[in-house]
Amino acid sequence: MHFTGAHILSISQFDSNDVERLFKVADAMEPYARREKRTRVLDGAILGNLFFEPSTRTRVSFGCAFNLLGGHVRETSDIKASAISKGESLYDTARVISGYSDIVAMRHPTAGSVEEFARASRVPVVNAGDGPSEHPSQALLDLYTIRKELNIRGPVAGLRIAMVGDLKHGRTVHSLSKLLSLYRDIHFTLVSPRALAMPGDIVEHLRRAGHSVVETDNMEEGLHNNDTVYLTRIQEERFQSQQEADLYRGKFRLNQAIYTQHCKPNTVIMHPLPRDSRAEANELDNDMNEHPSLAIFRQTDNGVLIRMALFALVLGVADAVDKHAEEVGWYTAKRFRRVPSAEV
Ligand code: NCD
Repeated sequence: MHFTGAHILSISQFDSNDVERLFKVADAMEPYARREKRTRVLDGAILGNLFFEPSTRTRVSFGCAFNLLGGHVRETSDIKASAISKGESLYDTARVISGYSDIVAMRHPTAGSVEEFARASRVPVVNAGDGPSEHPSQALLDLYTIRKELNIRGPVAGLRIAMVGDLKHGRTVHSLSKLLSLYRDIHFTLVSPRALAMPGDIVEHLRRAGHSVVETDNMEEGLHNNDTVYLTRIQEERFQSQQEADLYRGKFRLNQAIYTQHCKPNTVIMHPLPRDSRAEANELDNDMNEHPSLAIFRQTDNGVLIRMALFALVLGVADAVDKHAEEVGWYTAKRFRRVPSAEV
C-alpha cells in the first residue's frame, strides 16, 4: 500500500509487507509514548476525531497519538451534539469537517458509513469502527501485541488462537481474523453461542486461505492448547432488544480457576475492552488482573504506538519524527513495562 494520503478503512487493504512497515514505525514510536522524548513533527496539523458511538480508549488513544506527534485534536463525541442529529448527511459532514482537518478518525454505528464518509472527504480518513463491520487499527494493535507477548519477531505462522464471545457482531474479531489470514497455518478456535457465530463469509475466507477453523459453543473445550485466547463482550448495542442480549450475557467467563484448569500455561489472554464486569456478565474476572499472561493493558498501551504509526505514515512524516525530537522537561512516571512480565 502507498500509505501517504491513503484512507485506512479495512484490513483488506493491507498485505504482510504493509504490516511489517507499520510495525517498524510503531516500534520507533516507543520513546515518545514513554515520554522519553517528544516530537513536534505534526505541529500545526489537526485531527478531526469524530466518534458517533461510545468509546473511551479508541477515541482517547487516537487523540493522544496525534498529540504525541505534536498535532492538535478537534473532537465530536456525541451524535446528539453534532448536526447529524438535525438530519445532516454523512456527505455534508465529511465535506465540512475535511475542510477543517488534515486527517479524520471516525467511528459510527453503521457498517460502511466510514467508507461513505471517506468518499466525500477531502483528507484521509481512518476507520475507528463502523458498526459490526471492521476496526482495522484495533486488529493491527492486537497482532502487534500478540507478536510482542509471544516474542515472535516476524510473521506469526502456526499461531493457535481462540476467539470467544460475540463473534457475529464483534468488529474487532472480524478485522483480526482477516489480518491473521495473511499468514500461514493459523489455527482458529471460534467459541460462541451458535446464534453469535463468526459470519460465514469470514470463516470461508479463512478456510480458503488454508487455515484450520474449529467452531464450538463449548468454552472449556475451546480454551485448550492455544497460544492466545481473545475474549469479547456481548455487543448488546447491536441486538434488537436487551432481553435478547441477556440470553447470552455471562455464558462465557474466564477466571483464574478456569484458566489454570483449561488453558496451556502462559496462554496470553487478550480482550479489546471494555470488559463487561457487571456480575451477570463478568466475562473476564478481576482475579486475573495481576496475572502475568493478561495482556489487556499492554494492548491499550500498544494502541497508541500503532495509531501514531498510522498517522505518521498516512501524513508522510514517518522518517521525519526523530528530526523533530526534543528532551522532555516534565516529571514522567514509569508507567510502561518494557517487556511482558511473563518474560521477567
Ligand atoms: C471494541 C469496539 O468498540 O469494537 N472496543 C474497542 O474499540 N477497543 C469492543 C467492544 O466495544 O466490545
